[in-house]
Amino acid sequence: MRLVSIVNCESGMVLAKTIYHESGRKLLGEGFELSDKAINRLEEQGITHLYIKDGITDDIFVEDAIPLEVRREAVITIHTHFEAIQDGQKGAIFHSRMIKDFKRILDLLISEIKGTKSVMNLLSHIQVRDHYVFSHSLNVTLYTLAVATKRGFNDKQLYEIGLGGLLHDIGKMMIPSEILHKPGRLTDEEFDEIKKHSEYGFELLRKQVDIPLLSAHCALQHHEKWNGKGYPRGLAGEQIHPYARTMAVGDVFDALTTHRVYRRAMLPHEAMEIIYADTNTHFEQGVVELFRRTIAIYPVGVTVKLNSGETAVVVGYNEHSPSRPLVRVIKDPAGNPLASHYELDLLKDLSCMIIECDAIL
Ligand SMILES: [Fe+2]
Repeated sequence: MRLVSIVNCESGMVLAKTIYHESGRKLLGEGFELSDKAINRLEEQGITHLYIKDGITDDIFVEDAIPLEVRREAVITIHTHFEAIQDGQKGAIFHSRMIKDFKRILDLLISEIKGTKSVMNLLSHIQVRDHYVFSHSLNVTLYTLAVATKRGFNDKQLYEIGLGGLLHDIGKMMIPSEILHKPGRLTDEEFDEIKKHSEYGFELLRKQVDIPLLSAHCALQHHEKWNGKGYPRGLAGEQIHPYARTMAVGDVFDALTTHRVYRRAMLPHEAMEIIYADTNTHFEQGVVELFRRTIAIYPVGVTVKLNSGETAVVVGYNEHSPSRPLVRVIKDPAGNPLASHYELDLLKDLSCMIIECDAIL
């Protein structure tokens, strides 16, 4: 299968993976032949990439880093409990059932992350999303746990930072919906209101006896920046708790790689360029470095152009160097299909570079 950006999809292409709604409903099955109408509809629903069958890459399989079932259960748990908190607003309390549910989800996520040996490809979860905050909370937790594991955090720390990840944006439930979901550009006043979500979240979480105070601090500090120009307190460098510093990269990465009404989703390598540019200003360098080694910058199945002019498809990762994957060359520099494909390991062939990603085949 091959990963194709929705803008490069054409009618007649055949789906290689079923597309689900995040509630678990099946939308379009594997083998479905796309029409222009179906492509438009998927684009409207926020789908940014699809896996298609093309006869050339059909032996390439992309495995989900986190099983769909686990993902679905996590999003539903976050959804249900965040809405209950929204209904209770500032007087809301976490009853013991909620804590139990979050803990159970967290145990599942931690064991999946610990069991993932390779580089994580979270793009493989192509689903129609309902509500940005819920899937974002899950994705930030996954990125954060993956980096935290590499950072050597122990089980207690993984629990604290993981719970912090699931709940870091809970304060958004207290922001008026017309501001939170405004499709256009926000005014300065509206943006100031949105910024309050870190303090609203902290105030709510710090009062809950079953929630570690450090998890509450993830909500308070996840928008602080390494150079002291973040909010709400303008903390700098090591004044920011290591949990919040670890979380900041995944938070921005997920926002950039998700389709929003005001801009298209970026591919991982484009989002990483922005994150590299913000290293030592927004982000701690060590966290960016760990993140780079953890996340698939070129997902398996994506089409790339090499500096030789050849077209290739990513077929595997190099554990410590995700920016230099294994590729299968399928077209010569003139764009003619090769009679027999060959594979290149970009870690061994250092003169070979990727110059374009998500190239049209
Ligand atoms: Fe946030």
